[in-house]
Amino acid sequence: MECAVLSDPRNAAKIVRLHFHDCFVQDDTITLQGEKSATPNVDSLKGFEIIDSIKNKVESDCPGVVSCADILAIAARDSTVLVGGPDWEMYLGRKDSKTASYELANSNLPVPSEGILPIITKFLYQGLSVTDMVALSGSHTIGVARCQNYRARIYGDYTASESYLNDLRASCPAAGGDDDTVAPMDNVTPNLFDNSYYQILLRGEGLLNSDQEMYSSFLGVQTKQLVLQYAHDPLAFFHQFAQSMVAMGNITNAVDGGEVRRSCRFVNT
Ligand code: HEM
Repeated sequence: MECAVLSDPRNAAKIVRLHFHDCFVQDDTITLQGEKSATPNVDSLKGFEIIDSIKNKVESDCPGVVSCADILAIAARDSTVLVGGPDWEMYLGRKDSKTASYELANSNLPVPSEGILPIITKFLYQGLSVTDMVALSGSHTIGVARCQNYRARIYGDYTASESYLNDLRASCPAAGGDDDTVAPMDNVTPNLFDNSYYQILLRGEGLLNSDQEMYSSFLGVQTKQLVLQYAHDPLAFFHQFAQSMVAMGNITNAVDGGEVRRSCRFVNT
């Protein structure tokens, strides 16, 4: 992970997001074709080759012991630390799923066009809390979003400085542009894991509608309090983020007992 993040800090963001999607879909590695092509993942989820390369090294030293889910959990923790975020200890011993589910990848994962209540419901469904949701969303302090996920917002009721808005609109035109052009979700310190994401929400400049809703929706009384707290108290954010990552990493899927995959891309045959 050190090499990967040194060569491109965005690699940290890719791995943190991959771990999130892994946890929310059955606790398996969402590397089967079926889940990769689900709406929240297609053309969007990245970093698989980094996990492949770590897995190859681990397998050559110690075959058949360390699951892809454990590798991803550790890689996400180390990614966070490498870009300036908090550190934490976690349980290991996760197993990889023997299946994959396109349907669950579509239904369990939140999307930015959703309102705050359905998104909260998806976190509660996984046994996580509203506090977990607000703290974990803080990882949008690193990484990027694609134009198709924020176009409606920047041509709608968006309150940003004129120069920032002009830049965003120039690279993501209302029509005819490239849907996959990216912009950082934290335009102040895009490669640093800090609490600036929450300060951006206080200014109304959240790039994703779902992020801004946590502060601006009249339905988000509790989420607004938490955003305010984390914007003013970076240590409280770091402390909660670490706890919530442990909780998210402990979501289990005991249905089929699981296995240690030989390749993270496929179930064992
Ligand atoms: C609360 C609901 C959430 C929604 C609706 C959401 C949605 C999104 C979207 C739309 C993107 C941009 C994807 C693209 O345009 O290709 C994104 C990126 C990202 N998300 Fe989330 N997300 C949520 C929660 C989380 C959580 C809980 C985590 C991690 C713990 C996370 C980590 C990330 C990271 C690190 C990126 C940047 C990835 C990159 O640069 O490749 N997100 N998210």
